[in-house]
Amino acid sequence: MGLTRIPGLLFGGDYNPEQWPEEVWAEDARLMAEAGVNMATVAVFSWSRLEPERGVYDFGWLDRVIDLLHEHGIAADLATATATPPPWLVREHPEMLPVNADGVRLEFGSRQGYCPSSPVYREHAVRMATAMAERYGDHPALAMWHIGNEYADHTLECFCPESAAHFRRWLEERYATVGGLNAAWGTSCWGQHYTSFGQVEPPRTAPGPVNPAQVLDWRRFCSDALLELFLAEKAALRAITPDVPVTTNFMSILHGLDYWKWAAAEDLVSDDAYPDPADPTSHVQVALSYDLMRSLRQGPWLLLESAPSAVSWREVNVPKPPGMMRLHSLQALAHGSDGVMFFQWRQAKYGPEKFHSAMLPHGGTRTRGWRDTLALGADLRRLSEVAGSDTRAQVALVLDWPSWWALEAPESMPSNRLRLKELLLAWYAPLHARGIAVDLVPPGRDLSPYELVIAPNLYMCTAEQAKALEAYQGRLVVGPFSGVVDESDQVHEGGAPGPLGDLLGIAVEEFWPLADGDVQRTGLGEARTWAEWIRLEGAEPVALFEGGDLDGLPAVTRKGAATYIGCLLDDVTPVLEPLLDGIDRIDVPQGVEAVRRGGHLFLLNHTTAPQPVTLPHPGTDLLTGAELRGGIELAPRDAVVLRIEGDK
Ligand code: GAL
Ligand code: ZN
Repeated sequence: MGLTRIPGLLFGGDYNPEQWPEEVWAEDARLMAEAGVNMATVAVFSWSRLEPERGVYDFGWLDRVIDLLHEHGIAADLATATATPPPWLVREHPEMLPVNADGVRLEFGSRQGYCPSSPVYREHAVRMATAMAERYGDHPALAMWHIGNEYADHTLECFCPESAAHFRRWLEERYATVGGLNAAWGTSCWGQHYTSFGQVEPPRTAPGPVNPAQVLDWRRFCSDALLELFLAEKAALRAITPDVPVTTNFMSILHGLDYWKWAAAEDLVSDDAYPDPADPTSHVQVALSYDLMRSLRQGPWLLLESAPSAVSWREVNVPKPPGMMRLHSLQALAHGSDGVMFFQWRQAKYGPEKFHSAMLPHGGTRTRGWRDTLALGADLRRLSEVAGSDTRAQVALVLDWPSWWALEAPESMPSNRLRLKELLLAWYAPLHARGIAVDLVPPGRDLSPYELVIAPNLYMCTAEQAKALEAYQGRLVVGPFSGVVDESDQVHEGGAPGPLGDLLGIAVEEFWPLADGDVQRTGLGEARTWAEWIRLEGAEPVALFEGGDLDGLPAVTRKGAATYIGCLLDDVTPVLEPLLDGIDRIDVPQGVEAVRRGGHLFLLNHTTAPQPVTLPHPGTDLLTGAELRGGIELAPRDAVVLRIEGDK
């Protein structure tokens, strides 16, 4: 069974017919059908057109749109229309607009203009979701529900009194007593002892650094508060359409929301991905986020938004050169997406996104953009057998949101240079270059399916999470500055690596962050940014620091199957390579990506030169129908999707 009841791969994009006169809709539907579009995302920002005045609904136009799509064989990824509350509601209840950390209330006139904790917004959003489900729940075009839109894109947090009250309720539930909160937040520091929950406020702009434990709970709360909104709408939809799958579009590896928690609340994971065409490493970054999407619910997911060419929100919006849109689309499929969807169908005439590319550009059907849309539609039909298949990874990277939040807390860390995404990429990139499949896992998960588990950084590590790592029998790598604090950002007794001490056989005596530009040599290459003064407690040194203040001290250690790295190596390959014995890899030239998905092998040439590849298996290229074996040459930005012979 696929993600929806639609067979094969999904293809289409956001469709905003309310931005166009009705005469245009017929052409839209005709051209969508011509391109092979089988799903359109509709009504994402339509609330003010569907309910122009309180209680006065105007569903007629959307009825006609959805009927028209249906007549052309196009299903609807139907939004609940709640991503922008309408002006009448905002003017009736100005208190529902979000307030920033400086206490400034943000105006209407953009989108996501709501306080996540506003009971008014929630009540009306649930009412709107209910109205949509009642209206369209039985419509044969309805394939899936799209709740909200990119939660936390513009509004992750709100500092208004309503949000403050919500935060206090959340804290009371977590700590029960104010004594519990004082202990967890360490309020004896800087004289912050509270005597009632009523005295606690969100971490608004303060004279100096705000208590990091308070900020950490605020991050947890903000993710949970938005999730409550999602769940409230989901419950309303479920009551009326129990069988229609529900999603909300994620934003790749987003700092603000704990996607492990969020994905568990969804029926299917969907993602919006906008790799920067100007960044030559963007295909590696986006591969990492696609692998996260695949890992979130351990199976296929859906690329719900991507850009056909340029976006409109960077400083400089570089277009995708010929071939890149197709290549990036195939890349999403390789990493488990069951379709390719875009923002958006028809390029806008007005508004902040009028220069954002679309499947049907301003110039219409005579453009290269349109030809690319048609060609991709044809490719996706050739690839439909890929839908539904999964990837088996032998390597996992550990990713935890609370640890990330605590690590990147401003103003109180030994160094602000440790950025989790970069730390993940430092390991992911060389694995990716070797065609090795990688899962992401939350700490605490059973790790027995993997041969190699890498925790690039686990600044926060609880005793329970440490137990899961101890129970793991395979090869383990733990990166620097791990096992430092507990779930309240309090340093473990005896210091780092806290509960990981026995497993790793070391103690970190002192963190040794390196000044910008400083290099520390080690027996396994140069390190920058970070080093540590390590004492061996059962581990053996694998490499020592060479020169400088740490000369002769251990830089990389091993105890049993557990490796610890007490610095940030420029290149982790010397540590990684010996740990890859027996792990499936596919040897390809640099810049060529090789990904197994089910019985298929994707080979993607991200370079602008032809690349020779030796096929590990013979098979049929689904894109061309050619039977391939042995050595082939991949043209610049070209791809092969091989159905592997004898594989099912
Ligand atoms: C996404 C958003 C879309 C559109 C797109 C443009 O963040 O969900 O509505 O704005 O970006 O790239
Ligand atoms: Zn608020």
